[in-house]
Amino acid sequence: MFDLIVQNGIVVTPLRTFKADIGICNGKISTIGDKIAGDAKETYDASGKYVLPGVIDVHTHIDHLGGGAKTNDDFYTGSISAAYGGVTTFLDFAMQKKGEDAREAIKRRRAAADGQVVIDYGLHSNLTDLNEESFSALESIVEDGYSSFKLFMTYRKAGFIVEDGVLFALMEEMSNKGALVGIHAENDGICEYLTEKLVKQGKLSPESHAVSRPVLAEAECVSRAIMFAEATNTPLYVFHLSSKKGLDIICQAKNKGIPVYTETCPHYLTLTAERYKEAEGQNYIMTPPLREQEDIDALWQGISQGYIQIVSSDHCAFNSEQKAVGKSCFRDVAPGIPGTETLLPLLYSEGVCKGRITLNQLVEILAYNPAKIFGLAPEKGLICNGSDADLAIIDPNREIVLSKNTIHMATDYTPYEGMRVKGYPDATIVRGRFVIKDGIFEGSRGFGSFIKRKKFAIY
Ligand code: URP
Ligand code: ZN
Ligand code: ZN
Repeated sequence: MFDLIVQNGIVVTPLRTFKADIGICNGKISTIGDKIAGDAKETYDASGKYVLPGVIDVHTHIDHLGGGAKTNDDFYTGSISAAYGGVTTFLDFAMQKKGEDAREAIKRRRAAADGQVVIDYGLHSNLTDLNEESFSALESIVEDGYSSFKLFMTYRKAGFIVEDGVLFALMEEMSNKGALVGIHAENDGICEYLTEKLVKQGKLSPESHAVSRPVLAEAECVSRAIMFAEATNTPLYVFHLSSKKGLDIICQAKNKGIPVYTETCPHYLTLTAERYKEAEGQNYIMTPPLREQEDIDALWQGISQGYIQIVSSDHCAFNSEQKAVGKSCFRDVAPGIPGTETLLPLLYSEGVCKGRITLNQLVEILAYNPAKIFGLAPEKGLICNGSDADLAIIDPNREIVLSKNTIHMATDYTPYEGMRVKGYPDATIVRGRFVIKDGIFEGSRGFGSFIKRKKFAIY
């Protein structure tokens, strides 16, 4: 007896697209085949719809304090909005406070998320202070299932920057230990110098945000970190890559066999710095900033050629009132934009429907690669026998208009207001249970589990 059969759907994997039923037992995919026979407690007719592995959003900031503001979601509401977008697992951050043991930050985030999330989740350890305690705990952090780190190469004023020597020491320490060292790549000196200069010149509007954090700042850090990765033979992950110049450096490194992986985000694939000229230009402020059309084109090409392995949302649900606090000076705007719910429809519409990537590549960048790179496979990111029954079901013909009035993210705006998209899920299933069904939330608080991730293991 199956718990659920998803019938007549078009199943999409990184390699194949085929019509099949999916039989689910005890939260796992137990059978995939044409017209599965056998009783089921429930069936779902997916005729004419694509059945994708659930999206794994590897970069969210739920219940996040940053730039002097606190996002409006918590792990319950944030995970519901992710589920509406077909996300079945997300990776958020345990950001260490100065002087704190990094394990304390993890405990704090676990206490906030466990029992609240409606989908599965994991955490990156976000190190801001490699004090002795934290340094000696690195291996145990990885062993405990937090097998990736994020370090800021910027934000000195906020106290988050990790100096070169510390980054290098971390990479040396983590070499061959199954950790993936991730970076926020923006050269702080360049950004601070340009910010001060623009402020002194009285150029305070949101347009200055892009000028103050140029492509050079990203590319220089990417290059520096790659050299460290090569020297220490430690895998590197570049979070939120925004520029062609940064990508070119990554391509060269990958071609040399250096273990570097990267993600970009929907906003860097769809919006340019022109947006900062709009009346509410501050609503588009995130770091790194939006770039130019040539960057957008290069990033899409990087995805289709496999140099960019993942697209994540970098979701940060501030509302327009919070963003407007910095209206009088770009420097004071809390960085980050909402986006986990719109990740899949944007990538399907702008990527697949516009012929920039295939449907199979969509599944690769949103589910399979995230699972492989972040130690979640084979339970997650795949539609195959024995994997968790995590599915996102989309109707390829249903078009919706993205609007602040219909999104479920805990904010009052979307950077994509008025955009027509396809690929917004009809249903999201986590471990065999509907979390979203035909637009209605059917999940329950605390159904989501913390996922202890495996060590990094691909070269
Ligand atoms: O502006 C952004 N990206 N905000 C979130 C924090 C970060 O650096 O990812
Ligand atoms: Zn970052
Ligand atoms: Zn981020």
